[in-house]
Amino acid sequence: MSVRRLAEDQVQPEGFAFNAENLKWAKQTIAKYPEGRQQSAVIPLLMRAQDQDGWVTKRCIEHVADMLEMPYIRVLEVATFYTQFQLKPVGTKAHIQVCGTTPCMLRGSEDLIKVCKSKINDKPFETNASGTLSWEEVECLGACVNAPMMMVFKDTYEDLTPERLEEIINEFEAGKDVKVGPQIDRQFSAPEGGMVTLTEVPTRKETKVAKAPAKRAPAKAAASKPKATKAAKAEAPKVAVKKPVAKAAVKPADANAPLFDAPAGDKDDLKLISGVGPVLERKLNELGITQFAQVAKLTKKQITEVDDRLSFKGRIERDDWKAQAKALAKGGAEEYRKVFGKDPR
Ligand code: FES
Repeated sequence: MSVRRLAEDQVQPEGFAFNAENLKWAKQTIAKYPEGRQQSAVIPLLMRAQDQDGWVTKRCIEHVADMLEMPYIRVLEVATFYTQFQLKPVGTKAHIQVCGTTPCMLRGSEDLIKVCKSKINDKPFETNASGTLSWEEVECLGACVNAPMMMVFKDTYEDLTPERLEEIINEFEAGKDVKVGPQIDRQFSAPEGGMVTLTEVPTRKETKVAKAPAKRAPAKAAASKPKATKAAKAEAPKVAVKKPVAKAAVKPADANAPLFDAPAGDKDDLKLISGVGPVLERKLNELGITQFAQVAKLTKKQITEVDDRLSFKGRIERDDWKAQAKALAKGGAEEYRKVFGKDPR
């Protein structure tokens, strides 16, 4: 954890003021809190000021303190405590905050820091030659499950490797859109390659049976039934109750068989479709899907079948694989860029 101090006086600007839009927003935000509790707006206001100027200056701290009628020292304490506030100018395109706490450290954050040192600047908080990139090491950012990870402004980048971090830094420097969240084939913190448990969806019939309330015997019949005495119970011959035999789950014999005939010709790089990683690409190939044109033409029914096999409900439609595949089949990466305004994957 680095020492957090205000920037030297030489770089501090003379004054600070919110622009008209931000001032209106700040007043509305302050008004959300009950009378006497306006100081609760300190973090949102500092954040807005940082969004406006790129970092939190000494004058900004004083200005926010005046607006909230707080002692300067109280706002200074907040600004110097939370690492999301930058206390000196940082890279204009990205300020990389690498988590160095134990889980991330055990999973390789030290190698990530080496990459930052070699590609940006040997020292934290110092920018690269063009002033576009900077870095620092921070404490746990709350995504340990996907360690090692880093944060850039408000987005996190998880499951990093030194190689992927190098790519990401290049992408930021080139002004490209960078994929946020996990950098491997997983959704949020789900297992890599898709779900491995609770993969079967119950049929409508099974759901109905499970939800149906137990049938009660009619009250009249219950009332007329003579109560068995203890002696009668002892004398009564024991009738063997036949337990219902559980039906064996019927598994289709061809559950692993391909769904499609793989077309002739070279395989396409299905990983260019956002949402398809190496594991899903292998599974798609096993199902007989090897080309973009096949994905583009999937019918509703086929999407359901493929979804079932991938054990990842709704993924195809959520990431709109069909539209992506259609563009890639029509004109490759160039067409994809034309349609989606960004590079595939
Ligand atoms: S230890 Fe790195 S995010 Fe928690």
